[in-house]
Amino acid sequence: MNNPKRYTITAALPYTNGPIHIGHLSGVYIPADIYARYLKLKDKDVIFICGSDEHGVPIKLKADKEGVTPKEIVDRYHEMIKSSFDRFGIHFDHYSRTTNPTHNSTASDFFKKLHDKDKFIEKETEQLYDPEAKQFLADRFVEGTCPKCGYEEAYGDQCENCGTSLSSQELINPKSKISGSKPVKKTTKHWFLPLDQYEDWLNEWIIKDHKNDWKPNVYGQCKSWIDEGLQPRAVTRDLDWGIQVPLENAEGKVLYVWFDAPIGYISSTKEWAEANNKNWKEYWKDEDTKLVHFIGKDNIVFHCIIFPIMLKAEGSFILPDNVPANEFLNLEGRKLSTSKNWAVWLHEYLEEFPGKEDVLRYVLTANAPETKDNDFTWKDFQARNNNELVAIVGNFINRVTVLTHKYFQGHVPEYKDLDEASIKALQLLNQHPDKIGDKIETYKFREAQNIWLSLARAGNKYLAEKEPWKSIKTNEQETKNTLYIALQISAALAVLGRPFLPITCKKLYDILKLDDGITWNDITDKAEYLPVGHGIGQSVHLFTKIDDKTIQKQQDKLFQNTDDKERIDHKPVKKAIDFNDFQKLDIRVGSILSAKQVKGSEKLLELKVDMGFEKRTIVSGMAKHYRLDQLPGKSVLVVANLEPKKIMGIKSNGMILMAENAEGLSLVNVPENAKPGDIVN
Ligand code: MF3
Ligand code: ZN
Repeated sequence: MNNPKRYTITAALPYTNGPIHIGHLSGVYIPADIYARYLKLKDKDVIFICGSDEHGVPIKLKADKEGVTPKEIVDRYHEMIKSSFDRFGIHFDHYSRTTNPTHNSTASDFFKKLHDKDKFIEKETEQLYDPEAKQFLADRFVEGTCPKCGYEEAYGDQCENCGTSLSSQELINPKSKISGSKPVKKTTKHWFLPLDQYEDWLNEWIIKDHKNDWKPNVYGQCKSWIDEGLQPRAVTRDLDWGIQVPLENAEGKVLYVWFDAPIGYISSTKEWAEANNKNWKEYWKDEDTKLVHFIGKDNIVFHCIIFPIMLKAEGSFILPDNVPANEFLNLEGRKLSTSKNWAVWLHEYLEEFPGKEDVLRYVLTANAPETKDNDFTWKDFQARNNNELVAIVGNFINRVTVLTHKYFQGHVPEYKDLDEASIKALQLLNQHPDKIGDKIETYKFREAQNIWLSLARAGNKYLAEKEPWKSIKTNEQETKNTLYIALQISAALAVLGRPFLPITCKKLYDILKLDDGITWNDITDKAEYLPVGHGIGQSVHLFTKIDDKTIQKQQDKLFQNTDDKERIDHKPVKKAIDFNDFQKLDIRVGSILSAKQVKGSEKLLELKVDMGFEKRTIVSGMAKHYRLDQLPGKSVLVVANLEPKKIMGIKSNGMILMAENAEGLSLVNVPENAKPGDIVN
């Protein structure tokens, strides 16, 4: 949608049955916050809406397990999650809760309206029932043996052992998690939303209208759901935690959590409007409003298919213009997992890295899983902090402010007759607002942030070329020109960095004594945001280095705290060797020239390898893992000083490194730019 009148931006309402971790920040809340902050800096009419998702079975289960009420559980995590968001600078206009009265009435009315318009199908179905607890059992309340793999503690909706998704009726020897008794089948009535009746409409709306502006991962998932054919879906549950079904004869029944939660966006907007004297309807019913949902990929079907169908069926609401869902973030090469405690929890990070909230924001954006799953590693976190934030951004700002104080008592110097390099630097700077803005508006946040970083990089390069510390001795005006330009770059960094690093940029505003009212559109070729004569404050370090010990501690902690079974059966690490022993190894890059099978052996290949300085024959046991035609041209790592040895009558000179696991052997990857003969150590 071009030129909307206003924006309604939502971020998925987090479940309040546990704290949140870096995966949540990276997939949903940071991109949403960047987008909202940017639009506000462009003076757009924007609301950024979120809140706690406080209904659903997992919350009820957790409460039962701890012997407390569900309300106690959600109160605990609501506060915790809200405070984590606050401290990371995720700035919602309103953060509500689905247990609030406004939400109860909004969701309830929504259901009633669909019911009155005859949009539901009522159906009797058979469901598992606990005769002892006198309760219907939601899938999560049933445990039993997985019909696929025989695992005895499979849940009613999924087997954690083999990953198969199940329904509780498929389990062998099902057991109620409430009383332990054997469930029986009993009929119960529910209300279904007939998704199948909306297939034609979805084909129009998603497949035709949004093929080109939705992200390929989002569009692809929707298309395959629609192509597979949709089924009616129950929107009520037999449960005693949730929003009562607002009909007669519906006792003990509540709205399905995925029916009520997205309506939470609307009720949260109502609360905000009430408190701020606004009209909520403008944000949800005016065709000129652009509605954007930020979510993780596991929420795509709910936001792209089910919720839009609900809105469409109701009839008076707008539909999302875009749903820029991200893929998943992994941690140190493995899937983030709450149950295995393989995660970086935000409340712990805040304790352990005080003042470094923006560093995490920065790294998570630089590494965001925008088009594919991505990996967070502590080493990368350290490298980006030390080599990018400290060495490029912090260093530039520090040099500019220190030199301005040293030579010009902290005042922006007067410029005259700018040379070509300086004019170019100004021009470059003035292209940045649009360059960054274009990327943000198309949801490419990592590229956007990278362009911002490149401005700091260009600033450093400019200073290094102009050498104001030298010109001050020979040509003061030249130094004045240089610092004038460098100060404008600093100010631009402060303004344009606000969506990404809000806490740091606030500090930078203070250092430069920039007026808070200076925003995106002020970065123009007039460059009047930091006028000649303007006084700046003292420099402070915006970023500090993170040392190896700190990183090691985080890595150790991760491994110590995880409950992961995979870690138990690994081969023990061999006895320690000293550095001298290691240095005796001579490992080099080689390139395979040709390969042929060794006569009389199934496993062995005879390879000719170009080592750069000579060609060698090496016998290697990879015949079962590579076809002969795959090998010529492949780069490999060779232990070059291994005593030559005769194997099946062939003299083998060296050994090729391979990684081994249960599936077999594979060649160790060699960097693309490596050449035969390169030394590895
Ligand atoms: N609580 C859900 C989750 O964490 C997200 C709900 S989004 C909403 O996956 F739209 F339903 F609110
Ligand atoms: Zn299984």
